[in-house]
Amino acid sequence: MLKIMNSAHSKMTAWGLTKIKIADTAIVLDIGCGGGQTLRTLSNVVKHGEIYGVDYSKKAVATSSKKNIKDVRTGKIIVKQASVSSMPFSENFFDVITAVQTHYFWPDLKNDIVEVNRILKSGGNFLLVSELYKINYHMKEYKTPETLRELLLKNGFSNVNVFQSKSDLCLVGIK
Ligand SMILES: C[S@@+](CC[C@H](N)C(=O)[O-])C[C@H]1O[C@@H](n2cnc3c(N)ncnc32)[C@H](O)[C@@H]1O
Repeated sequence: MLKIMNSAHSKMTAWGLTKIKIADTAIVLDIGCGGGQTLRTLSNVVKHGEIYGVDYSKKAVATSSKKNIKDVRTGKIIVKQASVSSMPFSENFFDVITAVQTHYFWPDLKNDIVEVNRILKSGGNFLLVSELYKINYHMKEYKTPETLRELLLKNGFSNVNVFQSKSDLCLVGIK
């Protein structure tokens, strides 16, 4: 399943990544890194930076690490088992944080957005990407792009840009 997601989500992820600029020295985090394809994609962009992944599934951490074994060995990519609700990083640490097809699983979206904001640098970008039908299926609250945007604005983001394709949603929150 994790491997299938790697290919199933790569086009949507690539679309989302066109909405932000990432410096090649950036420190980036992918939350809910799953099979590790987004970490691989980020590593191709961030040539001289650091890339972190977190996922609360032990299996996802193992699969992501295996997929990126060369970068894991050099220490360029670090994958940790953790929930988005409490991440093992200090405040104002990341330039960019990505979350692809995962926020609709998070246990307490408001609290989790506050936690994302805590570890993002001032001026940093939070990129949330998801298929619209997944949001509609899984979420009771924050089902619309506007309510999600409001949630970010009320919880530490100074500006939020919304992009929508036929099937996918992309939010870019700037701290
Ligand atoms: C549908 S998969 C998407 C994986 C990957 N981002 C991708 O696009 O292929 C959702 C991922 O979010 C992770 N996840 C769900 N709840 C989480 C939480 N509370 N904290 C961290 N990761 C979580 C799952 O373990 C899973 O790997």
